[in-house]
Amino acid sequence: MRGDADPGPFDRLRANGEGERGRRTGKAERHLYTWPVTDEFRLPPEGIERVPPAFASRLLMGGPVTLVTTSYRGKSNVMPLAWGAPLSGSPPLIGISVEQSRHSVDMIQHSQEFALNFPTWPLLHHVQYLGAMSGDRIDKFEATQLETFTAARISAPLIEGCAAWIECAVEQVIPIGDHVLFVGVPLAVQVDREAFGERWLVGAEEKRPLHFLGANQYAHLDRVMEARMPARGDAPEAFLAERLAEELELTREARERREEQLGQLREEIEAGKAVDLASLSLEALPDFARRVQILGPDAPARDGNP
Ligand SMILES: Cc1cc2nc3c(=O)[nH]c(=O)nc-3n(C[C@H](O)[C@H](O)[C@H](O)COP(=O)(O)O)c2cc1C
Repeated sequence: MRGDADPGPFDRLRANGEGERGRRTGKAERHLYTWPVTDEFRLPPEGIERVPPAFASRLLMGGPVTLVTTSYRGKSNVMPLAWGAPLSGSPPLIGISVEQSRHSVDMIQHSQEFALNFPTWPLLHHVQYLGAMSGDRIDKFEATQLETFTAARISAPLIEGCAAWIECAVEQVIPIGDHVLFVGVPLAVQVDREAFGERWLVGAEEKRPLHFLGANQYAHLDRVMEARMPARGDAPEAFLAERLAEELELTREARERREEQLGQLREEIEAGKAVDLASLSLEALPDFARRVQILGPDAPARDGNP
């Protein structure tokens, strides 16, 4: 495995004094690559930069954050977790990677079970708080007064206000670097039907799962996009070009519609008239939206118009 100690072929070449002929100018100070001028090397496109290997895990973040609940000898604990992943479809297995020092490691080792609770944005600040405290010092359920309900198959409590819950028995424990990978068999899975059908619905905002970006930043899914299914025998290049052209056409139509709306809005504003907000896509009209509100029914009359 390549770590910081072995920087890879590009930097090795630089260390050997090779590749200087091809050094990219202009952005050289930001650009870590050097390369020999041969046909074998294809440079990354402009604007691509190397970042430290530790960023690999950040790039893989963005899946739903979960709250891992555990219970052992009458005590319960909860910790937020971003490093969770499906591991196998048949049999269904999921994995959670927990840093060795966490109290949750002991709780899972002892009880051999855990639950994953999928919080939604109304629990945003709870999630951050729960990640700043360790259960070996405080009772986080008592501190946060989170409401819980009884799990179907395990003793760990399930947290209300979440969008889904997975109860797991531990199948395997794999020490891995400074973490422990717990492989879990899902024993029971429950979902809020407003949040999840056969997949996340991306419906009401307060029902969408939270996605952890790092530090204290989170996001949620914004919209569902459907890719066209290629028909058997489609030539891949022709198919992709055709779909791209269709998407561009849709984008063009949307742009034209937006320009039309803007024109209409400009005329209304020039005439000092109120505008029917409901008929306009305000998301597309950020600058004008503010001005329209000034011209609303409670606004002072302008040019003698109501
Ligand atoms: C959003 C978020 C995601 C986190 N993801 C993980 C994770 O995947 N693995 C981990 O070991 N710690 C993770 N942490 C840190 C633990 O949740 C934190 O150290 C917590 O206090 C541990 O609690 P415990 O000692 O009671 O088990 C995360 C923290 C936050 C806020």
